[in-house]
Amino acid sequence: MTRKPLIAGNWKMYLTRAEAVELASAVAASSKGLTDREVMIAPAFTSLAAVQEAVGGADAPIRVAAQNVAWEKQGAFTGEISAPMLQDVGVDMVILGHSERRHVFGEDNAMVNRRLVGALEFGLTPILCVGETLEEREQGNTFKTVEEQLSQGLKNVQADQMEQVVVAYEPVWAIGTGKTASKEQAQEVHAFIRSTLVALYKKTLADSVRILYGGSVKPENIDSLMAQPDVDGALVGGAALDAESFARIINFT
Ligand code: PGA
Repeated sequence: MTRKPLIAGNWKMYLTRAEAVELASAVAASSKGLTDREVMIAPAFTSLAAVQEAVGGADAPIRVAAQNVAWEKQGAFTGEISAPMLQDVGVDMVILGHSERRHVFGEDNAMVNRRLVGALEFGLTPILCVGETLEEREQGNTFKTVEEQLSQGLKNVQADQMEQVVVAYEPVWAIGTGKTASKEQAQEVHAFIRSTLVALYKKTLADSVRILYGGSVKPENIDSLMAQPDVDGALVGGAALDAESFARIINFT
């Protein structure tokens, strides 16, 4: 089973519109001609339209994603953005359940599931983020946490919809800390995620789902992470804000 690697940049709450367009153009330039991998960037909501206009389009070398989405089409949901609003500016992909959404803004598995089911119904490709805190890891609960995030996050997601879903394993203790999971730690959890997907769906489907690693991915560690059999890409925060670093990550070997 071949899974096309996906290198995704999560820009979080950084960059003005002009800065975002500049960085996106640099990323598009370094992604040109790459056919054996996919590149995605997720700017802040305010920059999505401008970035999509600058580098998007059907034959663009990169995909543009949002960092969250509401489950309803419209309504009294102050502070939220809907899938049709994202599609209106050409965005067809979204990061969901990021650890900062879970741990800073209190999104639980039920809410992440609601967002994910909504995103799929509207035809967006979701990246479902899962991962344990340091405390959960130290207490030996890594698999338990990840299994719950997967089974509850994917509740009511049918097999044909699951073909659209990307999973990202992001150990919370590795995000923005400079502390990357070792390649063995990453592979161990990625393999666990795949076996959980086999149990929830079936093997052929689980074998086709891309599982990204995230948490202090850098030019120095991308090659060894990507060499792991169940690591199908990366979700990159800090290093995605630097054109040169991200170009090196995109061009992993
Ligand atoms: P980091 O962030 O690469 O800065 O650790 C990753 C993420 O939050 O997706």
